[in-house]
Order: sequence, then C-alpha cells, then structure tokens
Amino acid sequence: MYTSSELLERVNQALASLPDDRQPAGLYDPIRYALSLGGKRIRPVLMLMAYNLYRENPDHIMMPALGVETYHNFTLLHDDLMDRADVRRGHATVHRRWNDNQAILSGDTMLVLAYQRVAQCNPRYLPEVMDLFTTTTLEIDEGQQYDIEFETRNDVTEDEYIEMIRLKTSVLLACALKMGALLADAPKADAQALYDFGEQVGLAFQLQDDYLDVYGNFEVFGKRIGGDILCNKKTYMLINAQLRANEQQRHELDRWLSATDYEEEEKIRAVTRLYDEIGISQLARQKIEYYYALAAQSLARVNLPEERKRLLWQYAQQMLNRQS
Ligand code: IPE
Ligand code: IPE
Ligand code: MG
Ligand code: MG
Ligand code: MG
Repeated sequence: MYTSSELLERVNQALASLPDDRQPAGLYDPIRYALSLGGKRIRPVLMLMAYNLYRENPDHIMMPALGVETYHNFTLLHDDLMDRADVRRGHATVHRRWNDNQAILSGDTMLVLAYQRVAQCNPRYLPEVMDLFTTTTLEIDEGQQYDIEFETRNDVTEDEYIEMIRLKTSVLLACALKMGALLADAPKADAQALYDFGEQVGLAFQLQDDYLDVYGNFEVFGKRIGGDILCNKKTYMLINAQLRANEQQRHELDRWLSATDYEEEEKIRAVTRLYDEIGISQLARQKIEYYYALAAQSLARVNLPEERKRLLWQYAQQMLNRQS
C-alpha cells in the first residue's frame, strides 16, 4: 500500500506530464496556472487510497483521478469569481490575473477536460462512474447556488447550512472515494460506506475551511482571511453567532451585515471580535469533532481489516488538523 504522501507525489507527477499541446495559449495558460500552483490534491489522493484498499497499482486509475482534480480546480476558478476572491494558494486568482471572461471560459474548458479525463477509466465501469460523477457535479452546482442565495438571507438555519456544504463540498470527497472503490471492483456495501465516510469528513472539512477563513494564517491558508465575513457568507460561525448573541451583540452584527459603506478590514475585525466574545470557535471545533466521530463509524463499516484502513484514517486526521 502507498502512503498519502507517496500518492500525492504520483498525482503531482502525473499532472505535470499531462499532454499539453492545444492552442490558443490564452485559453490554456490559466488552466496550467491553476493546476500548477499546488493545492493539497485531497480528492485524487482519497480516490487512489480507496482504490489501493483493494488493488495494488493506483496508476491504473490515475487519469480519472486527475479528472476529479481538474474538476475541483474548475470549481475554484468559478468560485473565486463568484466570491470575489483575489488570492488562492498564495497567488492571484485567475479572474484577477487575467479577467472575468477568461475565468469563465478557461473554467468551462477545465470542466470539459475533467469529463474527458474521468471517462478514461476502465470502460467496464464507465456507466457507473459517469452516473456518479454527473450526479456529484450537479449537486455541487446546487450547493454553490444555495451558498450564493444564502448571502442575502438572514434566516438560514444550521440544517440548511449543513445541507449546503454537503452539496458544495462533501459530495466531491465522497465521490472520489466511491469512484476509487468502484474502479477497484470493491463490494457495493464498502463503496457506500466509503461514500458516507467521505461525506462526513467533507462536512468537517468545509467547517474547517470556514473556521480557517476567520482564524487561519494568510501565509499558510493562501486565501484572504475574512473573505467570508465580507461576503456575508452564512457559515456555521455566523449562523451560530446570530443565534447566541445577546441583544447588543446582535444589534452590532446586524449593523455590519447590512452595512454598505465600510472599511473592509474594520468589518472583518469587528465581526471576528463578536465571534470571539460569543465563543464561536470552540463551537466550530466541537462540530468538526462530531463529524469525525461519525466518519469513524462509517469507516468501521468498510469490511476490511483495521490495519488495511489505517492509512486512510490517518490521512483524514491530517486533514482535520490542517491549517492550509
Ligand atoms: C477548497 O478546497 C475549496 C473547498 C471545498 C473548501 P481545498 O482546500 O481542497 O483546496 P486546495 O485544492 O487544497 O487548494
Ligand atoms: C468552496 O467553498 C466550494 C466549491 C468551490 C465548490 P468556498 O467558497 O468556501 O471555498 P474557498 O474558501 O473559496 O476555497
Ligand atoms: Mg464559495
Ligand atoms: Mg470561495
Ligand atoms: Mg472558504
């Protein structure tokens, strides 16, 4: 079995050696740029790890795994445009370095490349793989739509938030794991348990992303701290701050949420101070732990010896403690 760092290295090597001879450069340069700035490569690594639970050589599914990573990077191009984010992985986002139209078109092209790559799997599994992938990509669009709609709503519940992050983020981690299992011809019940595991880890993963958006370190996180606060994103943190604020805190929070003319850093500082006062960070940590406990139960349902699953569990733990 390969460790997650060995798999990460293989993914990065394979990405760097993808055929790259199409024109015009204007269309493909932003794609190369996006795929070359690193990133944790969590989704292809999870996919290869799931496959490796059952089969020896993860290189056999490298192309579809790169397809999943290409797809993820496509979502980031469009997400940064929608979230008005200037920095990702410590570098200018595509719409800032080029322009909005370029992010749309190069993004569209990445989506097509992603499908082309995922389709280069063992043809025996193609219908199932395509069904899974297509369902997942539609769900992600649905999640992103909710995310945007929630920006201008003030009555988003915690359940609605969890369903939104399940759609926009979790299902892709779940899909990657299940796809790895499908391509390894794993038992159906195992493939489903791995999907559930991915979904629960994915919920914790997005909660952690929301947490780091407030409490992370820019140098390590690679994204602007406070970006969600500026967009009035209805994160776990904000929803719970609204619920738990006293009258005076709620008044101040509402004032910032409806403010139109403000200094950005001042809003970020003020809302973060309210989160601190209300004790939101402990709450988020607890919720993350809660989903990890569920994920452990799902992984326990995968019908393999414990030691076979250890690397996957360790990798999930690493994701839980990430700062980037
Ligand atoms: C960012 O995903 C988008 C979210 C779902 C939070 P990652 O945190 O996996 O981003 P990279 O690929 O490592 O940069
Ligand atoms: C990302 O959510 C979800 C998708 C890209 C589908 P975020 O908007 O929180 O991701 P970051 O923080 O920009 O990476
Ligand atoms: Mg977003
Ligand atoms: Mg974003
Ligand atoms: Mg985020």
